[in-house]
Amino acid sequence: MTPVDGAGASNPNLPVDRAVTVGREPSSSPEQIPQLAEVDCPPELQERIEALMARYPERKSASIPALWAVQERYGWCTPEGIRQAAAVMRVTPAYLESVASFYDLLHTSRVGAHRIEVCTNISCWMRGGDELLDAFRAAAEGEDVFVTGFECLGACDIAPMASIDQRYFGPLVPGEAQTAIDQLLSEDAVLPEKSLERRPLAGDTEVPR
Ligand code: FES
Repeated sequence: MTPVDGAGASNPNLPVDRAVTVGREPSSSPEQIPQLAEVDCPPELQERIEALMARYPERKSASIPALWAVQERYGWCTPEGIRQAAAVMRVTPAYLESVASFYDLLHTSRVGAHRIEVCTNISCWMRGGDELLDAFRAAAEGEDVFVTGFECLGACDIAPMASIDQRYFGPLVPGEAQTAIDQLLSEDAVLPEKSLERRPLAGDTEVPR
């Protein structure tokens, strides 16, 4: 291919800059948008994604919640689930894969039946977040539980904290990691006294008249 503006264009003794070329052709055909009839999308998933798309003027804006819906159904963003979502959204699977691979909370491979994110950002780190993460990792050893450190989960007031299957718990001590995982695996309520959703909110207390 003839260089048009690279080093080799003006000086034949210099190597040709292959990045500076025109008329480059893709090496394969563009990916097609799958048809709904091809992908066997479960009706509930299709309805959910269509409802999500209806919330936005641009259907691609629903990509993250649509991928979340796929992950909730299959446990992770499976290639099959991504093709189903792509067919409903009328985008290419590659587009949704690029979104899914960008976000830490979306998984493009199977990670485990349960997911625990332990915050190790500043407030949690100062109150023992690293030790808490180590304790969860040790307690999850050999179990179908994915444990990872995470940046601020926005619940610094209960530091150090963890998200366990999308529910927030804190403040936690390392000794509670094993208890939490045992309860999770036996489908008991996890650390009810540390559950953020069970904490009273401002206004919950009855004001004496
Ligand atoms: S630093 Fe841990 S939730 Fe904010």
